[in-house]
Amino acid sequence: MKIEWESKIPVTVDAPLELVAQCCQAAEGVTLPCAVHVLLTDDEEIHQINRDQRGVDRSTDVLSFPAVNYRPGQTAKDSEKRLRREWDPELGACMLGDIILSYPHAVAQAEEYGHSVRREMCYLLAHALFHLMGYDHMEEDEKKEMRKMEEKALGMAGVTRDDTGYAPSDEELCQLARLAMQKSYSPYSKYAVGAALLSADGRVFTGCNIENASFGLTNCAERTAVFKAVSEGVQEFSTIAIASNGAPPYPCGACRQVLNEFAPGIRLLVTWGEGQVAETTLPELLPHGFGPKDLP
Ligand code: THU
Repeated sequence: MKIEWESKIPVTVDAPLELVAQCCQAAEGVTLPCAVHVLLTDDEEIHQINRDQRGVDRSTDVLSFPAVNYRPGQTAKDSEKRLRREWDPELGACMLGDIILSYPHAVAQAEEYGHSVRREMCYLLAHALFHLMGYDHMEEDEKKEMRKMEEKALGMAGVTRDDTGYAPSDEELCQLARLAMQKSYSPYSKYAVGAALLSADGRVFTGCNIENASFGLTNCAERTAVFKAVSEGVQEFSTIAIASNGAPPYPCGACRQVLNEFAPGIRLLVTWGEGQVAETTLPELLPHGFGPKDLP
């Protein structure tokens, strides 16, 4: 999911909004590249937009304007044709619509609920994104379903109250790897790879391959994901999903060695083609591996 970000507020938002957006898409099970336009603004402007666009004369925390017109009872996962109609060739993605977020509202609500502004921003984005994917909360059962999807996506992104219980399924982890693959920078090989690394505490770190005109400096998707996690202070991993747009992306020797450093027993899910998935483990791919255990 590509976020076309626009901010009227001079703040740096320290929240994993990109990851939350990817997790919302993976939880919904949409594979087409998608994009969303997000405006972060003040109460005055959101009030004005609410009045002009919806005839509601007050400010609010978040507004969403879906580009896709879903059939009643259907959401994005059932609406591939409708999503395709919103294909933006310049973005190379289907534009799901617009989200307006009020930063002062996010700050006030975070205070009220006793959690961080970071969590509140993630929650508001997930809530608005599920609206853009066809969810609503008018009826009690729809509301329950929407809430469940929000919690699942936030849990996958590691934005939970208690950090437990929301780890993604194998298929969702593969889906996150496929979405990460869409970020691949591989103009030379044209072999795009994405990885989604699941940490022991249920968080997901994604990565893609990043090539370089000097060829030798290329970084593989798996190592991008591992380095992102370790640089955020996370060193324990249970599973990595790896996706490619070509042959089955079993990790190269360098990536096997780097995985062995932190997670010698890690499970691997390798996915390619039309959703083919193979499962293996690092001891199978790197027998008699050399690692930290071999040094004094
Ligand atoms: N690649 C990965 O991202 N992961 C692997 O384990 C194997 C290879 C990438 C690196 C390069 O950008 C492209 O695939 C072709 O080698």
